[in-house]
Amino acid sequence: MKVAEINGLQKDFKKVQILKNITMDVYSGEILGFIGPNGAGKSTTIRILLGMLRASGGNAKIFGKDSWKESIAIHSKIAYVPGEVNLWPNLTGGEVIDLFMNLQGINTESSRKKRLIEKFQFDPSKKIRNYSKGNRQKIALIVALSSDADFFIFDEPTSGLDPLMEVIFQEEVKEFKSKGKSILLSSHILSEVEHLCDRVAIIRQGEVIETGTLEELRHLTRYEYIVTTQRKAEILENISGVYDLSFRRNQAIFQVGQEDVQSVLEALLPYNVVNLESNPPTLEELFLRHYQEKV
Ligand SMILES: Nc1ncnc2c1ncn2[C@@H]1O[C@H](COP(=O)(O)OP(=O)(O)OP(=O)(O)O)[C@@H](O)[C@H]1O
Ligand SMILES: [Mg+2]
Repeated sequence: MKVAEINGLQKDFKKVQILKNITMDVYSGEILGFIGPNGAGKSTTIRILLGMLRASGGNAKIFGKDSWKESIAIHSKIAYVPGEVNLWPNLTGGEVIDLFMNLQGINTESSRKKRLIEKFQFDPSKKIRNYSKGNRQKIALIVALSSDADFFIFDEPTSGLDPLMEVIFQEEVKEFKSKGKSILLSSHILSEVEHLCDRVAIIRQGEVIETGTLEELRHLTRYEYIVTTQRKAEILENISGVYDLSFRRNQAIFQVGQEDVQSVLEALLPYNVVNLESNPPTLEELFLRHYQEKV
């Protein structure tokens, strides 16, 4: 079942086309990572999905309802954390948390709220203007994670958090997933996406250019091989399909696409293979390759 559907979304700001063609779905119970460089259009897509901005073309739906026309019906079942949290400077953190929770009909005495405040080591007694960026972000996270929403939309929620707090955020998100909740997570932190997401959508200059599981995307690129042989396997220098070859004495380090693995291994056998290690590309490598090839 689809929780969110985004079809051919377009957005112009003052005649400049910012979103050209955003098409992607979030399925029930999954965590979809939404990644792309600065200015690619992630936050704009999310604002349209939330009904905060009107699309210039295409459409977005949550729970089968149009994001713009039926936003009120949608909002009681979603929770949103923006990347930048700007709030009333004179209220305390605790007051702002309660205000938001009241607005969303969440019980402010909930044990979940208390647990999250402790877990995120958040001091609710300070005035908003005195909190650091990370602490302001914790306010939005505590409110969102206290809610009973079915669909969570996070727009770079951990950009201001330190690594310890990021781990706590990841634990909470995993727990929501185990309860069958659906999550859209826009992020710059690729390790976070790699840890949490079932699928990723890669956006570049207002277009979704790739969607799939990490495994599916990895199939598009080459694995790294580290092979130790008894004699130096010089033959690798003359085999097609071997990339970025280097030697450390009898150890060869190179990349091979899936279609050439068989022939490369056959060529290596006469050199008496002592050890073989293969590593999938990291999300970071996939991501960089995508941008380097197409920019
Ligand atoms: N209200 C607006 N008016 C004019 N241009 C805008 C407006 N909002 C966003 N833009 C432009 O749209 C483009 C996409 O911005 P958006 O914030 O969606 O990118 P992003 O992918 O979220 O980037 P980041 O990773 O930096 O958060 C940018 O070039 C931005 O300057
Ligand atoms: Mg953004």
